[in-house]
Amino acid sequence: MKAIINTDASNTISKIDNRIYGSFIEQLGRAVYTGIYQPAHSEADEEGFRKDVIKAVKSLHVPLIRYPGGNFLSQYKWEDGIGPKDQRPTRLDIAWRELETNQFGLHEFMHWSKKVGAVPNMAVNLGTRGIQEAADLVEYCNFPSGTKLSDLRVKNGDPKPFAIKTWCLGNEMDGPWEIGTKTASEYAHLANETAKAMKQVDDSIELVACGSSSLDNPTFGTWEETVLDECYDNVDYLSLHRYYGYYGDDDPTELDNFLAKNEDLDQFISGVVAMCDAVQARKRSSKQINLSFDEWNVWYHSNDADTKIKPWQVGPHLLEDVYNFEDALLVGSLLMTLLKHADRVKIACLAQLVNVIAPIMTDTDGGVWLQSIYYPFMQMATYGHGVVLNSSVDVPTYNSRQFKNVPLMDSVTIYNKDANELIVFAENKSQRENADLSINPTGFDIDHIVEATQFYGYDVKADNRDGKMAIRPLTSVELTGENISAKLEPLSWNMIRMA
Ligand code: AHR
Repeated sequence: MKAIINTDASNTISKIDNRIYGSFIEQLGRAVYTGIYQPAHSEADEEGFRKDVIKAVKSLHVPLIRYPGGNFLSQYKWEDGIGPKDQRPTRLDIAWRELETNQFGLHEFMHWSKKVGAVPNMAVNLGTRGIQEAADLVEYCNFPSGTKLSDLRVKNGDPKPFAIKTWCLGNEMDGPWEIGTKTASEYAHLANETAKAMKQVDDSIELVACGSSSLDNPTFGTWEETVLDECYDNVDYLSLHRYYGYYGDDDPTELDNFLAKNEDLDQFISGVVAMCDAVQARKRSSKQINLSFDEWNVWYHSNDADTKIKPWQVGPHLLEDVYNFEDALLVGSLLMTLLKHADRVKIACLAQLVNVIAPIMTDTDGGVWLQSIYYPFMQMATYGHGVVLNSSVDVPTYNSRQFKNVPLMDSVTIYNKDANELIVFAENKSQRENADLSINPTGFDIDHIVEATQFYGYDVKADNRDGKMAIRPLTSVELTGENISAKLEPLSWNMIRMA
């Protein structure tokens, strides 16, 4: 198969907001306890954070981390996680039916996120709590000092304000599973009043309102419209959540369908953008609402195992999906799809980061291992900076069970002016054919290949528990004049950096 990418420096989609490479830590399962925080582990630092995990997170180059949930959020009291650890209460986490010891809380998260080089995307509980508790949390975190709550932060060891900029107004408030789920109009009113109060405390913050927690929720569409109608002037982003699974092991063509699920993500984003813009037009507003895709990933492997977990444990093995090679290919395509919407998707969070549906896993008594999905994400988060180009891509397409006209090679082209680099991420979705790729760049001064890599050659069901998966050099890449050619193996993830 032939694949041609024609790309022109003057034809751009958008500058990339680096927060599109964000992730998520929820107080759930082993994300925190025996994940990022394990004081008794040989790798623990002076604050109890695992240094091996910090190293793996830093190598992933995640710039923003959402916290503390997730479903956990909608029943959480942030005050339980501050102050002397021996005085913090153990509580029932009634969202996940775990025990929460609160040994890790707000200050620990702020210290840990600094150590991994990320900024927080903090969330306030609008399930069981409301306006006052949210405003109190902003005061505690962001007010310099001289008030009861800001002085309490100082007393608890952090004299400088946390200066948290981005805040989520609740989590999945449309979901029937959520503690304190709301109708669209109930949520819209509470979110708007909470937004007003939080911005009264600190008018430099920006706020994310809950959109639909899935494209499949029956209220999708009317939810967005109702929420934006009421909150438009006081919020900055609308959230989207979406998880994908592989549901058809007995069907030999299901892999083609699974690898095309980024088409669904694309439609979801386009639909929500259209809804935001319809409300903007109706309101005759000059303000544009952007998107925070603050939960996305593959999630299905652990579903059965999770039904067998005994309730009321600390740090149970919940949502521990072990990802295989086909998952890595889909995650690559999903992130490319987010980038192709970089004009509107300003924040996105791979859900999640450690142990819970995560690229990074820990052995409680051992080390860290990296899942298959770590690799495409890490390459894009490390090198995918600058502007996304509006390239024209000429490639054959295929039809799958759910999707029509799916390009056999998915790609995104990025120009990093600061590094003077043109970067192509490309995935060959064909199970049988090579993609003979030609890249024709116009308006760039390219004279060498900085790096070309390929991730391929694994059984689609293979995972990385043995740690053998690796990114290898792409040896077939050639530069002739300004034109670049490369042979992309069937089912391969590729990165070509040129300068
Ligand atoms: O990320 C796991 C869960 O998925 C989150 O707690 C929730 O927001 C979503 O349903």
